[in-house]
Amino acid sequence: MEKIVWDDSFSVGVKKIDSQHKELIRIINKLLDIDKISVDSELISELLTDMTRYADYHFKTEEQYMVELNYPDYKIHKDEHNEFKKKTLSFCLDTMAHKETIATEILSFLKNWLVTHVLSSDKDYKECFNAGGVY
Ligand SMILES: [Fe+2]
Repeated sequence: MEKIVWDDSFSVGVKKIDSQHKELIRIINKLLDIDKISVDSELISELLTDMTRYADYHFKTEEQYMVELNYPDYKIHKDEHNEFKKKTLSFCLDTMAHKETIATEILSFLKNWLVTHVLSSDKDYKECFNAGGVY
């Protein structure tokens, strides 16, 4: 599967959040890389755990700004984050339990979710955050 390449179209206009998105992309790309080579399930569950942890930290950053700046779509956005957390957590548990090759569906879910979420939902808060002095 092709890796995600970060370019300016991913920018949400907030430095801290852009760099967090880059870190998430870095972790997902590592997983996408494994798909091509021999699979070490421990490495996969490690990476999935890293990603779950980092995503959690990152979502908190976004949500904190949303609360501070009274972002009107906070609730909808938070629901999207929660849905992602639920899904990745179950991937983690599945991988740990079965110790088997990571399914292509998992990888494409992670990849598509991140790209879609960053390019649409996250972009929507750009104006609100920037107007509130968050760049
Ligand atoms: Fe988000």
